[in-house]
Amino acid sequence: MAVGILLVGGFGTRLKPLTSESPKPMLPVAGLPVTEHQLLAAKRAGIHTLVLATSYLSEVFTPYFGDGSKWGMKILYAVEKEPLGTGGAIRNAAQLLDLESLGDEPIVIFNGDVLSRHSIADQITYHQSKSADATLHLIEVEDARAFGCVPTDDDGRVTAFLEKMENPVTNSINAGCYVFHPSVLQRIPLGEVVSIERETFPALVASGRPVFGYKEQAYWLDVGTPAALFKGSRDLIEGEFHAMPGCEIDASAVISGKSSLGSKVRVGANVVIDDCIIGDEVTIEDGARLSQCFIFHKTTIKAGTVQSRHYLSSTISEPINLP
Ligand code: GDD
Ligand code: MG
Repeated sequence: MAVGILLVGGFGTRLKPLTSESPKPMLPVAGLPVTEHQLLAAKRAGIHTLVLATSYLSEVFTPYFGDGSKWGMKILYAVEKEPLGTGGAIRNAAQLLDLESLGDEPIVIFNGDVLSRHSIADQITYHQSKSADATLHLIEVEDARAFGCVPTDDDGRVTAFLEKMENPVTNSINAGCYVFHPSVLQRIPLGEVVSIERETFPALVASGRPVFGYKEQAYWLDVGTPAALFKGSRDLIEGEFHAMPGCEIDASAVISGKSSLGSKVRVGANVVIDDCIIGDEVTIEDGARLSQCFIFHKTTIKAGTVQSRHYLSSTISEPINLP
């Protein structure tokens, strides 16, 4: 058994314009918000309580996840008026967990923009076998510059934490899922802006505390850019496309390129959709042709619209180019 904190409060700057109306973790991937994919993975690992550490567009999460009972979990919400950074967000969210009563029950922290199929349960077991303060999921990437670079010794002990450096000393990177002993949280100051990557981890390592790396090379993706979000959605889809329940698709429509359709999407006659992400309750009228577009929830696409590589939403007058 374990409890979790999901970091979902970033601005999602590299995902603009997709994040103009939705926080990054609520963007749909294969029909479900990124956060929901993570919630399901957390539940499989025995996590029963999850705090969502929200800030930017915090009001979007609660109506969707409620108290978590739909998923058989308990979901709580921490809101930062101003973003507190990753460490500050974790400390703030931890106030909703009764740390004293947790005893040694591990706390699992998730970056809210990661799709990972690694075994969280095995990571927890490894953490406990090492009696670690913190255990970081590590993966190997070809280019480590955009990530936290995390060298380890032969025993798996983390020897340094180097966030985003030009000349990475190893290809082993922080994959954004940590198991913490509850005592680690007490070391983070409350109500201050703190970076877990630039402050807390380097300080823990420097003071000789046991920080370990759990290496598992499973499917992994940070969906922090539009290209990555589209890739993440395609990766989860088998077949030509995926439609959530309640969709009505005209028999003459052609949908391909691992497009994803949210719930209750209506697709008219002779519509062509290729490699698109389409939100919930979208209507696409007859004859529209869409390729590599992101269509926000509840948008109506007029008959005959032809569009590629754009963000379309009912709240904006002109489609916006996707980078
Ligand atoms: N609540 C809250 N408050 N959440 C935040 C804040 C904040 O102030 N700042 C960032 N987050 C959340 C983001 O929403 C995201 O889910 C997560 O923290 C990580 O932030 P990113 O902005 O996506 O960081 P990154 O991708 O550049 O780097 C991080 O992830 C890499 C793996 O994908 C670091 O943890 C790297 O070390 C790591 O390699
Ligand atoms: Mg990220």
